[in-house]
Amino acid sequence: MTATGSAPTSNAKLAAWVDEIAAMCKPDQVHWCDGSQEEYDRLSEEMVQSGTFTRLNPEKRPNSYLCRSHPSDVARVENRTFICSEKQEEAGITNNWMAPDEMKAILRKQFDGCMRGRTMYVIPFSMGPLGSPIAKIGIEITDSAYVVVNMRIMTRMGQAVLDVLGSDGFFIPTLHSVGAPLEPGQKDVPWPCEGDIERKYIVHFPETREIWSYGSGYGGNALLGKKCLALRIASVMARDEGWLAEHMLILGLESPEGEKTYIGAAFPSACGKTNLAMILPPEGFKGWKALTVGDDIAWMRPGPDGTLRAINPEYGFFGVAPGTSYDSNPMAMESIKENSIFTNVALTDDGDVWWEGMDGDPPAHAIDWKGNDWTPDMDHPAAHPNSRFTAPASQCPTIDPAWEDPAGVPISAFLFGGRLSKTFPLVYQSLSHEHGVFMAATMGSEATAAAIGQEAIRRDPFAMLPFIGYDMADYWGHWVAMGKRTDVKMPPIFRVNWFRKDENGKFIWPGFGQNMRVLKWVVDRVNGKAEAVESPFGLMPRYNDLTWTGIDFDTVKYHGITDINREGALGEAEALKEYFAKFGSALPPELEKQRQALADRAGKAPEVWSSAA
Ligand code: GTP
Ligand code: SPV
Ligand code: MN
Repeated sequence: MTATGSAPTSNAKLAAWVDEIAAMCKPDQVHWCDGSQEEYDRLSEEMVQSGTFTRLNPEKRPNSYLCRSHPSDVARVENRTFICSEKQEEAGITNNWMAPDEMKAILRKQFDGCMRGRTMYVIPFSMGPLGSPIAKIGIEITDSAYVVVNMRIMTRMGQAVLDVLGSDGFFIPTLHSVGAPLEPGQKDVPWPCEGDIERKYIVHFPETREIWSYGSGYGGNALLGKKCLALRIASVMARDEGWLAEHMLILGLESPEGEKTYIGAAFPSACGKTNLAMILPPEGFKGWKALTVGDDIAWMRPGPDGTLRAINPEYGFFGVAPGTSYDSNPMAMESIKENSIFTNVALTDDGDVWWEGMDGDPPAHAIDWKGNDWTPDMDHPAAHPNSRFTAPASQCPTIDPAWEDPAGVPISAFLFGGRLSKTFPLVYQSLSHEHGVFMAATMGSEATAAAIGQEAIRRDPFAMLPFIGYDMADYWGHWVAMGKRTDVKMPPIFRVNWFRKDENGKFIWPGFGQNMRVLKWVVDRVNGKAEAVESPFGLMPRYNDLTWTGIDFDTVKYHGITDINREGALGEAEALKEYFAKFGSALPPELEKQRQALADRAGKAPEVWSSAA
């Protein structure tokens, strides 16, 4: 079979690649996606017919579908994710590695004939506004219609992309198969995927900018524009070309005077990026507006004036469903009212979706994410903890008017944070760019909270541990180098921690909308309007430096989340010695210097440092 004859592209390289992949995968037919509504509706209807999709009640949830994955295919598979650079050192100690030739040999065997009995879809997509100088074009070949319809929400997709690509434009080829060929006459299942975990592979070839993904149909494993392209491959391109590809939300904050300040914020997966990206200023912030540009990924390049300009390379949200409610995230709830896909949530008797943490009482009866009857007295959740919604970003009521500006929005501050129950204060600002890189490189979250005593921190540098496409230590070096460039003004860096707990194990800080109090201080700091005092960790607000109208949060509580134990700070500096040692000579010397400076400041601090003193 040849694709070239019917290929709606003048790009010979693309047509040849599609032919080559079709020859290897041996699908029954090849379909070039045009990205139209008609195509989306047709594929969705086909999936309703085949049992992959359930159409939701059009009165409750217009033009929306529920999908249940196979119970073995519910999240990214980090232990089957590989960075196949020529040299192992290039992948670094935090990534799985195999030599590219060896990996290609394994994968060629698995991909041989893997699309038998299926349609091979060719999805042209743009990460970033079409034609933006910061955007990149990718082509995903897949045998999953579920991937096609999700990609249409998550990226700008279809014929318009081929038109921009032209006859000799650059594209990143990405190949995906669920790994479940059909024998003649074999009946398909609702969620086909490879059952043997050892045969699942999410593979990146950073030098040749290629992605091959086999065996899973879920999220980041299969929607290859997202983590695989926009983070792992893009981080390598960003290093080579002098820009940044980060696991960050982008948020615009507008003061009552109309001054707009954009921030980028990196938190590990399931730590609240979507919440913060859609924050609603609480009582006491009259006239303030918070506007969403992105909730997961930011691509940033220095503009002509040296400011860092950011785009959201995505077109939709692929957000965690459980915990999302009108109480915790009303703008997310508004975004998923229609035209959305829900994967692994529960189905209510009136044909709508439900998950743990949604407003109101649980339904008396539902069908759980595995398709079984469910009642609230059961001891398992109705929705899978990593169940997700796919929704167009344009449906978010707080979407920023500039969210599709091809030039990007100017970033004035970076926030980094994880889940830490003690020691680390609510917010602190770096003393220098290099100190900020140190703060981001050493962030992390605790292993589960239950155990008492000194919890080890699982480091997740820059929230990029699962997503960096090269040596983590080199990546820190890239951030250090960005700060040394004279043509870029790197924004100040802050660490935040919404998760400090009291002696009863309860969060002290109310979080969510109340995080606006911290954001306002950050905005005021970058605009030279707020004061700070120096702590062992960095520059911090005193109680009166934050705005407290509309909330009852006294100084005792404040000090509960901002005081710093010398012991804890010294312990951190000590723990980092061991952590940094793992990176050997790849560790940028600037970071060890910062570690010593932290130990120094902590050593000189009182037993309990307090901003009140
Ligand atoms: P990925 O899409 O996986 O990259 O993650 P994300 O960072 O977008 O995660 P998400 O927004 O889905 O994280 C939600 C989790 O963070 C839920 O468990 C929330 O309860 C929690 N969360 C969000 N904001 C806050 C906060 O301010 N305080 C507390 N305590 N929890 C929060
Ligand atoms: C994450 O895990 O950080 C996600 C979800 O955003 S996925 O796209 O599946 O990687
Ligand atoms: Mn993410």
